[in-house]
Amino acid sequence: MKRAPVPYVDLQSSYKDERDDIIAIVDDIFGSGQFLGNKHVAKFEADAATALDVAQVVAVDSGTDALVLGMGALGIGPGDEVITPPNSFLASTGAIIQIGAIPVFADVLPDQNIDPDAVLKAVTTRTKAIMAVHLSGRMAEMDRLSEIAEEHGVLLIEDAAQAMGSSQNGRKAGSFGQIGCFSTHPVKNLGAAGDGGFIATNDVEMAEQIRFTRRHGLIDRDTAPTWGIVSRMDELQAAILSLRLTTLSGKIERRRANAALYRDCLDPDHVFHAPCRDGDYNTFHTFVVQVAERDKLRQYLSDHDVSTAIHYPVPIHLQPCARDLGWGLGDVPVVEAQAGRILSLPVHEHLSENDIKFVADTVNHFLSNI
Ligand SMILES: Cc1ncc(COP(=O)(O)O)c(C=O)c1O
Repeated sequence: MKRAPVPYVDLQSSYKDERDDIIAIVDDIFGSGQFLGNKHVAKFEADAATALDVAQVVAVDSGTDALVLGMGALGIGPGDEVITPPNSFLASTGAIIQIGAIPVFADVLPDQNIDPDAVLKAVTTRTKAIMAVHLSGRMAEMDRLSEIAEEHGVLLIEDAAQAMGSSQNGRKAGSFGQIGCFSTHPVKNLGAAGDGGFIATNDVEMAEQIRFTRRHGLIDRDTAPTWGIVSRMDELQAAILSLRLTTLSGKIERRRANAALYRDCLDPDHVFHAPCRDGDYNTFHTFVVQVAERDKLRQYLSDHDVSTAIHYPVPIHLQPCARDLGWGLGDVPVVEAQAGRILSLPVHEHLSENDIKFVADTVNHFLSNI
C-alpha cells in the first residue's frame, strides 16, 4: 500500500476537533450582529494577557500591524535605527520601514537567533531599539539583550510572531521587551481563521493609546486627538483565538514530542539542529535543520511525498525591495550561509510517530548517500 503523503501543514484536521465550537461561535456572532470590537476582543485580550503574564494585550489585524503600531507608540520614527536580524520573515524589517525608521542588520548565532555580540557592534548614537525575533519558536538570548538595551538606553522589542507560548527561564516570549508583537496568521501555533495579531505590554497607558490608534485615533465615536489607522481584530477571530488558547499547550506539547523524536532519529553527522539551551521552552513553530545539498534533499523528500518549507531562502537585506538600504552579499555572512542550508521539516501536531520516523529516515538515507 502506498504511504500517505506527509503534509507540511494540516489545518483541516484541527477543524475536525473544533467544528462544533466554531459553529457555535459563528452562530453567536452572526446572531448578535456584533462583528467588531466587542466582548470577544476584550475576552481574548484578557485571556492572552493572562497566558503571557503581562498587564495588557491589544488585539490588531496582523502581526505586521502589531509591530508597526507598537513601534509607533514607542515613539520610534524617521532617522531612528532599529537593530534586527535579516533572516526573519520580511515583515519584521518591513515594519521598521513602514514607520520611517532605519533597519540595521545584525548577524545571528548558529541557532539562527540574533547574536548579542553583533548587536553590541551595531549600536550607534542613533540606535533607538533592538528588535529580537524569536525565530521558529526558539527564543533569542533575552537576558543579554535586555542588559545591552539597558546599558545603551535603547528600547527592546520582541518580534514574537513565531513564539506564542515559548519561554526562557520561566518567563514568556513577548514579556521581556517594552512590547512583544505576535502574529495569529493561520499557520502559527495560535492561529486565527485569517489575519490577526496582537501586542503584549506592561505599559497600560501605551496599550490604551494603541487601542485608539487601531481605530482611526478615535477616543469616542466622533473625536480623534491623534491620527490613526484601522486595525481592529474582528470578533470572529478573537473568539476563535480564545477557543484555541485553551488547546494551545496540548498542541505545543505534541510539537515538542515530534521535535524530540526528530532529534533522536536524525543523523547528527549530517544534520544540524541547534540544541535547546537550559531554561528554554521551545514551541517549534517550525523545526529547522541545517544540511548540505538542501535543495536536492528537498526535492528528494518531495519525491517521497514529504512537504517541506524554507524559512527563509532570501535574507531580507538581499531582497530587491531592500536595495536602497545599501546592504549587499557578504554583509551578514552567517545569515547568508544558513539561507542555503536551512530546511523546515513538518512538525505539526497531527503527524504520527511513524510520519516523523519516515521523514527522518528519508533525510538520513539521502544525506548518507551524497
Ligand atoms: C517573524 C515574523 N514577524 C512578523 C510576521 C508578520 O505577521 P503577519 O503575517 O500576521 O502580519 C510574521 C508572520 O509570518 C513572522 O513570522
